[in-house]
Amino acid sequence: TVVIDFSSPNISRPLSIHHLRSTAIGNSLCKIYSALGWRVVGINHLGDWGVHPAIDIAAYKRWGDDEVLRTNPPYELFNLYVRYNAEMENDPSLREEVQAWTRKLEAGDPEALQLWEWFRSETLKDFKRMYGLMGVEFTEHVGESFYRDRVGPLINTLRDSGLAVESEGALVVMLDEYDMPPAIIQTGAGTTVYLTRDLAAAIYRKETYDFDRMIYTTDSGQSLHFRQVFKVLELMGYEWAADCVHVPFGLISFQEGKMSSRRGNVIFLEDVIDRANELTRDIVREKNPDLPNGDEIARQVGIGAIIYADLDSRRNRDIVFDWGEILNFNGETGPYIQY
Ligand code: ARG
Repeated sequence: TVVIDFSSPNISRPLSIHHLRSTAIGNSLCKIYSALGWRVVGINHLGDWGVHPAIDIAAYKRWGDDEVLRTNPPYELFNLYVRYNAEMENDPSLREEVQAWTRKLEAGDPEALQLWEWFRSETLKDFKRMYGLMGVEFTEHVGESFYRDRVGPLINTLRDSGLAVESEGALVVMLDEYDMPPAIIQTGAGTTVYLTRDLAAAIYRKETYDFDRMIYTTDSGQSLHFRQVFKVLELMGYEWAADCVHVPFGLISFQEGKMSSRRGNVIFLEDVIDRANELTRDIVREKNPDLPNGDEIARQVGIGAIIYADLDSRRNRDIVFDWGEILNFNGETGPYIQY
């Protein structure tokens, strides 16, 4: 059994170009392991707990417009989030509001939970639409919020065993012996963190699936995070920590001007797919104007081109997408293979 944790976007925003790699590489690993005869458990570990959902709620309470939100939830939630972060710079009271909503969420306040659940389900609907376009499937969509009740007992275990110690008000596991900064288990404000939820998730998955290997695909910026997670698991006495693997990858960018973003400096995956379809449609029309299902073919070839270009690149390098190269109908490209 192999557990593959991939894609794993944060809620309340659309998928962006940086989710392409985790999604394409993770999905590809699922297929390869299946073909090799493994039982594959593909998990979408949604970022659906912690501070950013609290920002979403605070922003919604301030400026949210249900009408607008209903028409395009992930994009509108993202706009609210960006605006809130910008205004938080100048107005510290906004920061306090976020802390208050974080505490309310963790304490199970009904209003906080209801808004969070609404944002979460609307975003997940949109993610599933995108995964459908890309032919990507998961065994389950279980996010960080799933572990919220498991984190408390885990923190107690870590504290009682002496592994976690107080440091400047926070609770940490010291890792300097292993050349790593301390792993923060709980913040000074008493809220839980990403890393603790990853510890809880790993233990839960071992209990549930008894995996022989577990793989996480994220960009290389999270390499230290996973080294810390695996080390803490090992120090807790879990021998299977050695079966956990981080598969890091570089970032994607576009050649200057070739994929300008109409919505700030984030490039949304949907815009990239649309652009690929548009460009492919032109090529298909030119090469084969009488094709009855030309638009459908263009869609398939466009998405194939993007995924192929991702998988064909050196995993650990940053990659620069060049439409001319990706959509070339000759050479080592998606369109050529599909042809
Ligand atoms: N939600 C994280 C992000 O957007 C990725 C989560 C990866 N998986 C994990 N188990 N930590 O960066």
